[in-house]
Amino acid sequence: MTGILGTNAHLGADINLILQIIMFLLLIIGLIYKKKRKFRIHGSIMAIAVILHVITFLTVMVPPFLEGFNYFITTTSDFRVQMTLAHAIPGAIAMILGIVLVEMWAIRPSNIATCSKRKRLMDVTALLWLVSLIFGIATYFAYYL
Ligand code: HEM
Repeated sequence: MTGILGTNAHLGADINLILQIIMFLLLIIGLIYKKKRKFRIHGSIMAIAVILHVITFLTVMVPPFLEGFNYFITTTSDFRVQMTLAHAIPGAIAMILGIVLVEMWAIRPSNIATCSKRKRLMDVTALLWLVSLIFGIATYFAYYL
């Protein structure tokens, strides 16, 4: 199906790009609320971003990645493959860490203080996620512009 953004991309890739940008904005907004010390809102925004991440990962990213798996592991000298891996590897790790952080909060939602103890893990998650989102957006441009 043809895309909606006027590039060479198919509809799935366009929707994925839009969702990547939304997740990027959610991450930034979540960090702004953290800065304002509104931790419950921060946690909720991050939880929404993690859920979006899992949905896009399973529906839009895993199928083509598995289909082209041989290509992705044998053509690592290709710039676009490098870009895809720089998106996929930190993205997969950030997704797992994000699920862990949200799950641990969900077990005791009233206890924000224990979330504080995981702030180093949050730093790592946010950094990997931002790297993944930037390369995800760059991957789209490399393939479809
Ligand atoms: C993907 C999920 C999440 C990411 C990427 C994330 C990211 C971050 C980052 C980068 C910080 C700054 C850490 C620092 O000061 O060095 C932070 C702080 C914090 N986050 Fe999260 N966070 C996530 C989920 C959550 C959840 C679910 C909660 C639960 C309410 C939460 C509560 C907090 C609290 C309380 C702090 C302040 C820590 C402190 O300064 O003592 N975060 N988060």
